Amino acid sequence: MKLFIDTANIEEIEEAVEMGVIDGVTTNPSLVASEGGDFENRVKEICSIVDGPVSAEVISLEASEMVEEARELAGWADNVVVKIPMTEDGLKAVKALTEEGIDTNVTLVFSPSQALLAAKAGATFVSPFVGRLDDRSKDGMRLIERICKVYDNYDFETQVLTASVRSPRHVMRAAELGSDVATLPYEILKKLTDHPLTDIGIERFLSDWEDAQE
Ligand code: E4P
Repeated sequence: MKLFIDTANIEEIEEAVEMGVIDGVTTNPSLVASEGGDFENRVKEICSIVDGPVSAEVISLEASEMVEEARELAGWADNVVVKIPMTEDGLKAVKALTEEGIDTNVTLVFSPSQALLAAKAGATFVSPFVGRLDDRSKDGMRLIERICKVYDNYDFETQVLTASVRSPRHVMRAAELGSDVATLPYEILKKLTDHPLTDIGIERFLSDWEDAQE
């Protein structure tokens, strides 16, 4: 499974890339706004740090405007993937962009039927938001299971990108279910690396080593 980092923070992206476990980046308007500065420069900088796909989202809501905006974003770097919201206009834009060879990530997906339509329109990635469903007492991971099943049934090439990840359990469940990608906030990446028994083990090895030197 590929792991993306869900942030627009340069330091976090650099740290994650250094660990060698990150295959791409996702951003959204909220994440970019929280970092401040110029959007274009930030996206270009992220694209230069990361080898894999970098999702940058359009702000327009009308199909032809989304396509215009997407063309501009895609011109900033070879690895830009244009994030398009899951609406009727969004689907029209995805179809047009797919025909032009521009990669897309259909975002804000909350049902298997939305995911089916995104795949039919030709999306490169589909982003079901599991955490936001859990927040409303729904089962976010069940959505991933259902989408993976539908895509497998018909050999859709669209990649399932588990998004709105809130815990290491979300990540590992996504891996078990066969999600192609999970995008995770930096703090979840840190949590995935930690285990108290690892820390205890290191402490014990070092103290045994020191004792043997006396
Ligand atoms: C994914 O592409 C989104 O940027 C992100 O996962 C949304 O997460 P949130 O629901 O925690 O804001």
